Amino acid sequence: MDFKFRYGPWALVAGASEGTGASFARQLAARGLNLILVARRVEPLTALSRQIETDYGVDCMAASIDLTQFDAADKLAAIAGDREVGLLVLNAGADATGARFLDTELVNWEALVMRNVMTVMRACYRFGGPMRDRKRGGILLCGSGACYAGFPGIATYAGTKAFDLIFGEALWGELQPHGVDVLNLIMGRTDTPAHREIMARQGLALPPDCASADDVATLGIERLPHGPVCNWGLDDSDAGFAGISAADRRRRIAQIAQLAFSGKDTIDE
Ligand SMILES: NC(=O)c1ccc[n+]([C@@H]2O[C@H](COP(=O)([O-])OP(=O)(O)OC[C@H]3O[C@@H](n4cnc5c(N)ncnc54)[C@H](OP(=O)(O)O)[C@@H]3O)[C@@H](O)[C@H]2O)c1
Repeated sequence: MDFKFRYGPWALVAGASEGTGASFARQLAARGLNLILVARRVEPLTALSRQIETDYGVDCMAASIDLTQFDAADKLAAIAGDREVGLLVLNAGADATGARFLDTELVNWEALVMRNVMTVMRACYRFGGPMRDRKRGGILLCGSGACYAGFPGIATYAGTKAFDLIFGEALWGELQPHGVDVLNLIMGRTDTPAHREIMARQGLALPPDCASADDVATLGIERLPHGPVCNWGLDDSDAGFAGISAADRRRRIAQIAQLAFSGKDTIDE
């Protein structure tokens, strides 16, 4: 299926002003999708939006929405209005605190959970329904290798990413039979402004093996039809972080879906 038909005419990128989000935006525009770009800071978002319109000749709108807010997904839906959003990229997600669990205010963890769990879940509900009705579309969740195990030092972050992984896998199982692709793009260390800032705050240099934001976005777009998981730097059959390969996970979810749905809506492996 033609990319624009399958995932267009509009893509919404949440966390779009820089890093991987901005790379997704540019690469999706290059493939002819119109864009709704969301982040908090208006200036970089507006500048990127204008630049994309100039460079790629697509329609691009920018909206300042704080994804930690309870009504963020409602605002995303409102800003989209009656535009057909065929691709939802949920990119915002880093842990900006740099703190251990008990060493910062609880409100910071509540905000992290709200953005990475509640807003992700609500946005998938809001935009996934129309995609299923149209029998096409895609949802791309930007994940982290931290999702595969408890990570002292980033406990809440890892927990939210584990939620996203399991949630996204199950969504893939429910939506793939209806023509909607879901991908958890599990990233490793990636050179983004947010990651540079976190490293600098800890007095650490950026590791030389950091992935580039453009390469990560390219991989995500390429692998979107081949969910539910893509681990940066690993083949589907590599055991990777968890000792359970992407292919094993896919097979297992297909088996669970087979049981849960009594043989209806079978997954095309
Ligand atoms: N970089 C890495 O090494 C790495 C490794 C593994 C996984 N990841 C994952 O990759 C994704 C991108 O990470 P990143 O390093 O670029 O940092 P990030 O802070 O998650 O993403 C930056 C983008 O998200 C926006 N954003 C952040 N918080 C927001 C909020 N509350 N509401 C609306 N927009 C918000 C930022 O713009 P504003 O500040 O203007 O809002 C910016 O456009 C995340 O999901 C992260 O967990 C990154």
